[in-house]
Amino acid sequence: MKLIEVKDYQEMSRVAADYLLSKVKKSNKITLGLATGGTPQGLYQELINDHQENKTSYQHVSSFNLDEYIGLSGNHPNSYCHYMKENLFNHIDIPLENTHIPSGKAADLDGECQAYDEKIHSEGGIDLQVLGIGSNGHIGFNEPGTSFDSPTHIVELTPSTREANARYFDSIEEVPSHAITMGIASILKSKEILLLASGHSKQDAMKKLVEGKISEDFPASVLNRHSNVTVIADEEALALLKNHKLLTR
Ligand code: GLP
Repeated sequence: MKLIEVKDYQEMSRVAADYLLSKVKKSNKITLGLATGGTPQGLYQELINDHQENKTSYQHVSSFNLDEYIGLSGNHPNSYCHYMKENLFNHIDIPLENTHIPSGKAADLDGECQAYDEKIHSEGGIDLQVLGIGSNGHIGFNEPGTSFDSPTHIVELTPSTREANARYFDSIEEVPSHAITMGIASILKSKEILLLASGHSKQDAMKKLVEGKISEDFPASVLNRHSNVTVIADEEALALLKNHKLLTR
């Protein structure tokens, strides 16, 4: 795991955008894995700014999002489908038919999960997966205890995750209880992973990720088994780390 320490959220977003843009510009066809939440919003804004200023094209890019709430339709303002359109897709030239987000309204949710993994596979897999991290170590919506072998599946969200995400809803009661998420095995199949973390609320998680043991109790720890992971995290998120040998600036 390569760990890049940056000053703050803004620098994290800029460094992540440069990283991603270098891959997008170099390739004739690239499949991105995309995340939602507060963390990648700055990255997406940087991509939009770049698209407007430098006209970087996304015509050759396709994407798969990590997760979606069950029960929310794609045009619900709190759905991740809506988030992606608002925060990125509507502002760059990626063909919408190239973008994939699991449907939280599918009649056959198990079928939707299986079809999602098959679709990723049929597109040749994910070249670069962007990840955030939950304060309890969740990646996507893979909560503590999730099997490292899990494919895309349905999850019940923990109270702490529902609380953390309640800020986007009018009340915690409105936060869906379940979600569909790419599984840990699905995420690990990505050729490359870029994990972003910023701020005080991620300090414990970053310490466990870098210095803790690999355990299903802390889902992100599995990333230590992947051969191509880059973490870009700010000083605040890394404040509890003792092993500064890993850091490059
Ligand atoms: C959410 C998302 C994750 C995200 C995480 C952290 O529940 N499902 O994909 O990485 O929580 O969110 P944030 O970036 O807002 O801290």
